[in-house]
Amino acid sequence: MPSLSLSLIKELGRTASNVLDIGAGASSLVDNLLDKTNSKSNYEVGLVDIANSAFVHTKKRLSDRASEAFFIEADVTKPIVGIEENWADVWHDRAVFHFLTKPEQRIGYANNISNLVNLNGSIIIATFSLDGPEKCSGLEVNRYDGNGIQQALAECGLQLQLDNEVQFEHGTPWGTIQQFTYAVLTLLP
Ligand SMILES: C[S@@+](CC[C@H](N)C(=O)[O-])C[C@H]1O[C@@H](n2cnc3c(N)ncnc32)[C@H](O)[C@@H]1O
Repeated sequence: MPSLSLSLIKELGRTASNVLDIGAGASSLVDNLLDKTNSKSNYEVGLVDIANSAFVHTKKRLSDRASEAFFIEADVTKPIVGIEENWADVWHDRAVFHFLTKPEQRIGYANNISNLVNLNGSIIIATFSLDGPEKCSGLEVNRYDGNGIQQALAECGLQLQLDNEVQFEHGTPWGTIQQFTYAVLTLLP
C-alpha cells in the first residue's frame, strides 16, 4: 500500500485532480485513488510504464474498475503520446527518476512534465536519498535530496518550487532498507 504517496497527494488539498503515475508498475496507488469511499476528492488516473507487462497485475486487480483509468506504454525519457497536453494536475513518480543517469534522459523526462502537467500543477518524485542504495535491481542510480531533484530538473529547463520533502525508509521483502527522498514540487510559470 503506497501510503506516503497517497497522503502526499491528498495533502495537496485538490478536490478534483488528474493524476499521472509514471513508472506505475504494479503499484496499488491507482486502486486507492479510484476508491471513492471516505474520499472528498475525485481523481482521474493515468498510468505510464515502459513495460506493458507491468499493467497486467494492475488490470487484473482492478477488474471492472480498470476502465476508470487509462494505461499508456511509453518510455518517460521520450515524448509520451496519447495524453492531452497539460492534462495532469499531479505528476507522481516513485522510483523511476533515479534511474535516469544520463542528462539526455532527464531532459526527455522534463519535456514530458512541461507538456503534460498544467502550470501550478504538482510534481511528486520519490528517489533513493543521498544515503540510499547506489543501485536498484542491479542498475546504477542517482541519489537525491529535495534540492537535488529540483536542481536536476532546473538544469533541464523546468522552474519548480520545492514545497515539501520527506525522508522514508522502505523495508524490502528481502529484508533490506532503502532510504527514499519524496519531493513535492510546484511547476512554476
Ligand atoms: C522500481 S519500479 C516502481 C514501481 C512503482 N512506481 C512502485 O512504486 O511500486 C520502476 C517501474 O518503472 C518502470 N520504468 C523504468 N524505466 C522507465 C522509463 N524509462 N519509462 C517508463 N517507465 C519506466 C519499470 O517498468 C517499473 O515498473
